[in-house]
Amino acid sequence: MGICWGSPVDNHTPTTTGHLSSVVSQATASTVSNISKNSQFSAASGDEACLHGQILLSPNLREHSLAELRAATKNFRADALLGEGGFGKVYKGWLEEKGHGRKGNPMVIAVKKLKSDSLQGIEEWQSEVGFLGSLSHPNLVKLLGYCWEDHELLLTYEFMQKGSLENHLFGRGSAVTPLEWDTRLKIAIGAAQGLAFLHASDNQVIYRDFKASNILLDGSYTAKLSDFGLAKLGPSESKSHLTTRVMGTHGYAAPEYVTTGHLYVKSDVYGFGVVLIEILTGLRALDENRPTGQENLVDWIKPYLSERRKLKNVMDFRLEGKYPSRSAFQVAQLALQCIEKEQKNRPPMKDVVETLEQIKTNEKPIEPRTRASRLASNCNAHQPLHHNSPIYVKQYGGIHAYQTTPPRLR
Ligand SMILES: Nc1ncnc2c1ncn2[C@@H]1O[C@H](COP(=O)(O)OP(=O)(O)OP(=O)(O)O)[C@@H](O)[C@H]1O
Ligand SMILES: [Mg+2]
Repeated sequence: MGICWGSPVDNHTPTTTGHLSSVVSQATASTVSNISKNSQFSAASGDEACLHGQILLSPNLREHSLAELRAATKNFRADALLGEGGFGKVYKGWLEEKGHGRKGNPMVIAVKKLKSDSLQGIEEWQSEVGFLGSLSHPNLVKLLGYCWEDHELLLTYEFMQKGSLENHLFGRGSAVTPLEWDTRLKIAIGAAQGLAFLHASDNQVIYRDFKASNILLDGSYTAKLSDFGLAKLGPSESKSHLTTRVMGTHGYAAPEYVTTGHLYVKSDVYGFGVVLIEILTGLRALDENRPTGQENLVDWIKPYLSERRKLKNVMDFRLEGKYPSRSAFQVAQLALQCIEKEQKNRPPMKDVVETLEQIKTNEKPIEPRTRASRLASNCNAHQPLHHNSPIYVKQYGGIHAYQTTPPRLR
């Protein structure tokens, strides 16, 4: 299969703290050796998208004690909770660092705590440590350390100040400020660069769970990919795909993968296309609360992406019309290529990065708005701009009325 962990890692069922270092080092060593065999991750490859990434041959992960992480998170107090996913809860923590930060100036971290004794969770935990511990790139979230004690599995990460792209696109409440067009483009480029880096070696890493909630944002909205629990090393040179149990998230997973279990590097490109459409429309990849026929974003919105005039009707109303329509249309065309049914017809992520960067470079600054247009947009501030759109659903109070997190495929 061209993968992966080798039996020792997969067969480990952790019971004691003593196991930990060896399991972690096996996970990282296995990943490093598999990736670096044919690696083009180094700057020497001359591949623009990969210039800033590297494989860490000796990952410098810190082993935390449970007491240390309890203290850091105020005993996992509810008010330190940042979010919750399939793996478990994520807390904000303050670490009194030995190496980093001075005394009284703790380092802010995120602490992910595995739900329970789930075998699935342990596999994902090992995968996360193996991949994130071995790869370093400005668009991948930094794994700092781990803890495995008293049947508790935890991971620590750099704290991402602005949370997830999902929160910004679909979150509600006064704390959520809508993303401006430039920021959306910056996030798309950053996330594309992260994915291009993973795909850039001969023995590529297939991320397998590309979605808005796994794109985290730092204080200046630099996008970083998180969650490598489902990642796989790509197929060997003689093969085009891996065959795996179908896992990932409904709405983002590529059709060939869902129907056959065949996982291609280009299956990730499909997920990227779906996120591009979410960035354009502010609508979730899958929302069971939308009316029949509109639950799946790709199936519903695809026909609106191919014409500039139609696209206008489905653009996120939170943009208040403040985006260059030419750029938005070009992004929509790119999204359409990424979600091509045939995986072969989807562009490689390296090309996706180049296209997005070109779109950004060619953008003209948005005209300063006149007083009249400002007044008009203030009047519409709480109204979707596309209320005359054929897809506007009156009985649901607008196309953004109901949004729920898409279910996992596992
Ligand atoms: N390093 C981090 N810094 C800041 N917030 C984080 C960090 N990691 C995760 N979070 C927050 O915690 C939330 C939950 O993350 P998690 O990866 O566990 O689940 P998810 O991505 O929402 O779902 P899934 O388990 O399906 O991937 C994220 O959406 C984000 O808001
Ligand atoms: Mg996640």
